[in-house]
Amino acid sequence: MRPTGLQWLRWTGAIGTVWLAACQAESGPKQWPDDYADLMDPETCRECHPDHVRQWEGSMHAYAADDPVFLAMNRRGQRETNGELGDFCIKCHAPMAVALETTVDGLNVGELPQWQKGVTCYFCHNTIAADGTHNNPLELARDGVMRAAVDEPVPNPVHESAYSSLLHETQFDSSRMCGSCHDIVTPRGLDLERTYKEWQNSVFSHAHPTDPDRPALYATMCTQCHAETTDGPISTYEGARGDRSHHDHRFVGIDVALTPFPTPELAPVVQADQLAGIAEARDRALCTTLCVESFPEQGRSVVTAWLHNEGSGHSWPSGAAQDRRAWVEVIARSAAGVVFESGVVAEGQPVVGLPDPSLWLLRDTLFDDLGQEVHMFWDAARYESNLLTIVPDLSSEQQTWVSRRYEIPDGAPQEVTMRVRLRPMGLDVLDDLIASGDLAPAVRAAMITQEAPLTRRVWTPTTGEPSPLGGTCVHQSVSCFAPQTKASP
Ligand code: HEC
Ligand code: HEC
Ligand code: HEC
Ligand code: HEC
Ligand code: HEC
Repeated sequence: MRPTGLQWLRWTGAIGTVWLAACQAESGPKQWPDDYADLMDPETCRECHPDHVRQWEGSMHAYAADDPVFLAMNRRGQRETNGELGDFCIKCHAPMAVALETTVDGLNVGELPQWQKGVTCYFCHNTIAADGTHNNPLELARDGVMRAAVDEPVPNPVHESAYSSLLHETQFDSSRMCGSCHDIVTPRGLDLERTYKEWQNSVFSHAHPTDPDRPALYATMCTQCHAETTDGPISTYEGARGDRSHHDHRFVGIDVALTPFPTPELAPVVQADQLAGIAEARDRALCTTLCVESFPEQGRSVVTAWLHNEGSGHSWPSGAAQDRRAWVEVIARSAAGVVFESGVVAEGQPVVGLPDPSLWLLRDTLFDDLGQEVHMFWDAARYESNLLTIVPDLSSEQQTWVSRRYEIPDGAPQEVTMRVRLRPMGLDVLDDLIASGDLAPAVRAAMITQEAPLTRRVWTPTTGEPSPLGGTCVHQSVSCFAPQTKASP
């Protein structure tokens, strides 16, 4: 019954608005969902919040149920578990469709109207409770109130406004709201994606020493890093105030759309914008130091690459770390040319399976009950992880710097370089989905290799600073360096 009412409203378009207005004129309580169908559609918000809509529509939240890799994995998962996955996946990727009961397993998501797909405005702004820490336990108020933390919001004819600590960036509740979707425990109990747990164990989640409900000075919520503010009006509606702050609704992380989304015309623009946001965030995420110690009489050198998760509020990478492939590239040259390389990967070449015994790859690796490596959630019995962890407290920075030593068969290298590279999803995972017939092969070419430009270090015999550990080192900046490699002042 519900879908019929909603679809009728959608299909009739402008007539629907008249119908809604007529309903509102009648007395009696409004019924969820039909009477709120317009509010569930992000297009309704565009008139008064055009900047929010423009940013959101290129975001991974908008893309979550259009992502071909998601669709392929869900399809395969339903098939391989005989439907036992149920709404497990789609509950986070199209939570409104689950709330409206227009899907039970996400297999029909391609037929649903766009406004039911992805993590939508209404879903976040109608949330009233987050009783749990994983697998989307969020509850909707199922009313016409849009909740956030705007001080004395100016009234408008389309929705009521109310305060909610779940959508207030200085409150722990707000991280719980994001975190309860950004933390996955599989049906068999494996804590597969742990962004919220990682944040909870980090320096950023510390409570005030005397008031556990208040963040300490250095506490930082998800929203404060992922939806930074710019000053200015938050609505174009007449009478809206100018002295507000607008939260960035691109919610950038690592991924960009792999298909022309939201439309072929807009795709290049919003993707470039999303990539620019990612690059800006990544500049704050990582720090590197590169050291070289040469033994000319033995004809060898030792290169040490140091890496630190500096500004992510969780591990790096985080979330879908079983799918991410992040790695360190190291190249050493002598006068004669390249004498050593590790992590040199061509475009289109999977990094897993390279004949590269020194490869430093940062990822989670999944195994089934028999100890075989697997790629899919539902097959996983355990994981191994070597992600870059975030500092638990301010005094332990040194312990979260990690390093890798490389033996170089040359006693006098002239130049050594390092950099960090990343693919949001490994080509080996995509190849697995293509082989099972679930993913269109064309998607593979859209998976670009991302860079972390600030992690690039270039060492030469004259640029390094002496290190107490031996040899000389080059550092990212005066504030970004492996403490172990600098003599105390
Ligand atoms: C007719 C114009 C109009 C439309 C359409 C509209 N809004 Fe608003 N909205 C406003 C105004 C005006 C404010 C208050 C702005 C201010 O006080 O500066 C507001 C405030 C908000 C707030 C802040 C609430 C608070 O108390 O913190 C949220 C969240 C919000 N809108 C979400 C939405 C969403 C989501 C949609 C689409 C479903 C939408 N709005 C559609 C005009 C509109
Ligand atoms: C209903 C569940 C849900 C809620 C609530 C939610 N997210 Fe997400 N989020 C997702 C899903 C699903 C994706 C990924 C979609 C995809 O890539 O297919 C995502 C993607 C993201 C990304 C981009 C990740 C990447 O790899 O690029 C960021 C950043 C993010 N969310 C932050 C937040 C923050 C901050 C909040 C709280 C304000 C939040 N999310 C609330 C489900 C949710
Ligand atoms: C993933 C959850 C999420 C989604 C999806 C989302 N928002 Fe928000 N929105 C937030 C958060 C978090 C804030 C900031 C609350 C705070 O701390 O002040 C916010 C704030 C707002 C505000 C208040 C002004 C501001 O920028 O602080 C408006 C208006 C708003 N959102 C509109 C929208 C519209 C329109 C959409 C859909 C196009 C949307 N939001 C989608 C989480 C979300
Ligand atoms: C101190 C700032 C900070 C805080 C707090 C923070 N993040 Fe992030 N997050 C980042 C940065 C920076 C990146 C980007 C890393 C990159 O692309 O190199 C990131 C990446 C992500 C990603 C992409 C996945 C990946 O592999 O890294 C997701 C999803 C995400 N964050 C969600 C969250 C959620 C949910 C919270 C709260 C529980 C949160 N973040 C708290 C800074 C932060
Ligand atoms: C608890 C909520 C939740 C559940 C359950 C969930 N996801 Fe997600 N999914 C997310 C979030 C959040 C992200 C973004 C995380 C990130 O970028 O690190 C995401 C990202 C993804 C991505 C894109 C990430 C990438 O690696 O680039 C795929 C594909 C995906 N999910 C598939 C699935 C499938 C298939 C299932 C069911 C077996 C599932 N998800 C279940 C929340 C969920």
